[in-house]
Amino acid sequence: MNKIKSGIYGLNSLLDGGINENSATVVIGCSGAGKTTLATQFIRRGLEMGQEGIFVSLDENKEQIIREAIQMGWKKIVDYIDEEKLVFIDASGHEFSAFIKKELPSFVADWKGANARISIDPLTPVMWSTTDRYEQRELIGFMLKETRKVGTVLATLEEHGMTGNLSGNETVIPMYLADCVIHLKTLHAQDDGLQRRLKIMKCRSSRHSKMEHDYSIVKGLGVVVNPDNSSLVHTKEKPGELQKMLEESKVHIPSRVYQRLSDVLGELREDDFSAIKLEVLMQEIIAEYSDD
Ligand SMILES: Nc1ncnc2c1ncn2[C@@H]1O[C@H](COP(=O)(O)OP(=O)(O)O)[C@@H](O)[C@H]1O
Ligand SMILES: [Mg+2]
Repeated sequence: MNKIKSGIYGLNSLLDGGINENSATVVIGCSGAGKTTLATQFIRRGLEMGQEGIFVSLDENKEQIIREAIQMGWKKIVDYIDEEKLVFIDASGHEFSAFIKKELPSFVADWKGANARISIDPLTPVMWSTTDRYEQRELIGFMLKETRKVGTVLATLEEHGMTGNLSGNETVIPMYLADCVIHLKTLHAQDDGLQRRLKIMKCRSSRHSKMEHDYSIVKGLGVVVNPDNSSLVHTKEKPGELQKMLEESKVHIPSRVYQRLSDVLGELREDDFSAIKLEVLMQEIIAEYSDD
């Protein structure tokens, strides 16, 4: 099983080294959980390693996704689009069964074997395009099978209502068809505000973590996961410390990453680091690029 780096700090070790190449991963979470952010990080990581990126948006339009990526500190996204290394397929407002059965196969024929990274964000409108469970399964199964011919796929899925047991019809079928399932849970702790936890529900051929892991969404870093439950902190750490650590670790990380992080340091706040210790975060950043 060939593993590829996810681009999400803290996640690779939980997935037994990273995301399985040519597999389909489904990321499930409620609105605001960080699904689009994570899908963008996954694409960005591939682009940085010379892989092409394909962003299939079924919900937001291309401009909105680009705007949000820039706001999260990824200014270089526009260069990749200019160079046509990052391609958007804006399927929002389409009739999905026709899109999947007709447009998708011709796209796949053009890109077959490209070893690209494909994000589908979110799969939910496809589930809603029909109430027939058999047809839902056919459509999602076909979509994942076809896109996998182009490379490694990460699809997101909206979770509605109470976050938790993943038993709803709209999550069961995609979960069954995926090679890997990641759940982004949002808990509403009484005094602590939002508490975010990531759990890997399944990952084929991998000894993956079975635990829940705190995660947060930080400008310049995106979704960051605390891989070490024993170092759960919830004490606020000083962003100034990160600056110091970044300088110390400069030689161990790519210059583009150093630049991206340096650019946002001034905007970070203590509560951005309530889910992960700064030393652990820095170790994870270095580990992400150690084989590049
Ligand atoms: N500039 C930012 N800095 C830090 N966090 C942000 C920023 N912009 C958005 N967020 C966080 O990201 C969340 C939205 O992430 P997103 O990936 O769009 O979620 P989803 O796709 O699951 O709805 C927001 O709820 C907010 O907590
Ligand atoms: Mg989204």
